[in-house]
Amino acid sequence: MYRSIRPLLFKLDPERVHGLTLRLIQLAGLLPPTHALLRRMFAADDPRLEVEAFGLKFKNPIGLAAGYDKNGVAVKGLSALGFGHIEVGTLTRQKQIGNPKPRVHRVAEADGLINSMGFPNDGVDALKLAHGAVPCRVGINIGKGKDTPIAQAADDYCALFKQVYRAADYVAINISSPNTLNLRQLQARELIEGLLKQVAAVRDSLVPRVPLLVKIAPDLSESEIDDALSAISSAGLDGIIATNTTIGRGGIPDRYRDLKGGLSGAPLRDRSTAVIRYIAQRTEGNLPIVGVGGIANARDAIEKLEAGATLLQVYTGLVYAGPNLVKQINRALLGRA
Ligand SMILES: Cc1cc2nc3c(=O)[nH]c(=O)nc-3n(C[C@H](O)[C@H](O)[C@H](O)COP(=O)(O)O)c2cc1C
Repeated sequence: MYRSIRPLLFKLDPERVHGLTLRLIQLAGLLPPTHALLRRMFAADDPRLEVEAFGLKFKNPIGLAAGYDKNGVAVKGLSALGFGHIEVGTLTRQKQIGNPKPRVHRVAEADGLINSMGFPNDGVDALKLAHGAVPCRVGINIGKGKDTPIAQAADDYCALFKQVYRAADYVAINISSPNTLNLRQLQARELIEGLLKQVAAVRDSLVPRVPLLVKIAPDLSESEIDDALSAISSAGLDGIIATNTTIGRGGIPDRYRDLKGGLSGAPLRDRSTAVIRYIAQRTEGNLPIVGVGGIANARDAIEKLEAGATLLQVYTGLVYAGPNLVKQINRALLGRA
């Protein structure tokens, strides 16, 4: 069915389609009959799909990546689409309008997207999420504000952690978006260890203890990934999300190369899988990895699991394949079980 409406959707501005879709899913989640209908259409509940990561049980490995429901307004409806987890955010301390539009572009020939959103969100104070309100896990992704200097970034992350941890099953620190000036500098050896240690200290001072993850870019070299892994290990983080969008432009036609922002979808897939494989090897499988980047079908998902991911996330694949993607992957995983 999605295939027949996709050409129509693709005639409209991508961010507009996203806004409409999110509102529809939000509405459908609020009304019991439509919620039940979505569940019947998309959910694939089966105990054989359950996975455990950082001390939590997930009903299946497929999650929704950050950026889709930035303010956590549609988690109920989204949970009916069969996700095992939903990552809300990126949320910042203050409300932000983000970068000028248009800031999401389809790279249709390559099943990709380029976005330069810049964390538009209502700010953490507007978050209305109660822990356990939906029948899947909810992660909350937090980011430095646009105007926060890098030297004070840790204050933002610590304050945000304190504000969101009660509503979250896990919290993810985003230091890898290419659309907030200098944000990715926080991945550098001199900064990452101090940052992660400070946020981990906040995690350890609070009850309940909520797992803390960090999300990294696919553009790091092996030695930069090693630095990140060493910081993760000494700060005692619970997991890593690999990866965010890329600033690379490989695998897409030349005419898109000058668009600003991060590239996601199929052109990112192999790089993201290589990063996952590298992390799994370096940590000997001891650090839970959430694999994300270019998953467009069950084969891509299985490839990332085989590379060492425990959980997976999708975003751009949903735009091209539609919401049935989640069920399709879960069914294929059941076929292997
Ligand atoms: C339009 C758009 C907005 C995004 N916003 C965020 C965000 O706010 N925070 C974040 O950590 N990642 C964000 N991402 C990155 C995704 O969470 C994901 O890491 C990336 O797109 C790779 O996965 P995919 O190829 O399945 O899309 C965004 C991606 C897209 C396409």
